[in-house]
Amino acid sequence: MKQLFIVANWKSNKTKSETIEWFQGLKVNDLKLTNKEIIVCPPFVFLSELRSYIINQKSSIKIGAQNISPYGEGAYTGEVNGKQIKELADYVLIGHSERRRYFGETDEVINKKLQMAFTYGLTPILCISDANQIINHKSLIINQTVIIAYEPIFAIGSGTPDTPENTDIIAKEIKQILPNVLVLYGGSVTEANVAIFTNVPSIDGVLIGGASLDPQKFTSIISNV
Ligand code: PGA
Repeated sequence: MKQLFIVANWKSNKTKSETIEWFQGLKVNDLKLTNKEIIVCPPFVFLSELRSYIINQKSSIKIGAQNISPYGEGAYTGEVNGKQIKELADYVLIGHSERRRYFGETDEVINKKLQMAFTYGLTPILCISDANQIINHKSLIINQTVIIAYEPIFAIGSGTPDTPENTDIIAKEIKQILPNVLVLYGGSVTEANVAIFTNVPSIDGVLIGGASLDPQKFTSIISNV
């Protein structure tokens, strides 16, 4: 049985009290998690809160950050660096299409962020919208532990996911370029369609935005894969 990664990307949503309510509403202990790695990526300001909560609850849920500074420690106002993130999280999302679109992230910046993740022992979840996008990162990530999330732009937040057939084609293309990576699918994944993606042999899990915000829906997603 393959190990499945189920990643919740909260984006810029939730308050501190809503974060804890979400966890209280998650019925994850009732579910079999043996072959599932659940990763929650809250906004930076809740990483610490979430970490304490998870430790207190003895939960196996892992934490990811949604971003990382391309620089290390120092005079970079407003940035959160890899050393700081590593104290609180194991994973980090890098290169999400919203970062590329709204914050002008280029492949060069994304490579600096990948390098920072490697320096501080964080596993990057590198988001791409087509297999060719990986070419500019290949030499940096080829011998590293990296998760790739294939997220076509048309599918993000639209209610129209890609087809499982096409995700299989893209995942295989990615694995041809980088044989050791895991490939997740993201874009309008819900509790109703998650299994058609996780049943694709080349797909190692899912990255979920909107449907991860509701703890009941996220619980159903975990149990439906
Ligand atoms: P969505 O977002 O599940 O709301 O489509 C996915 C993502 O942007 O990671």
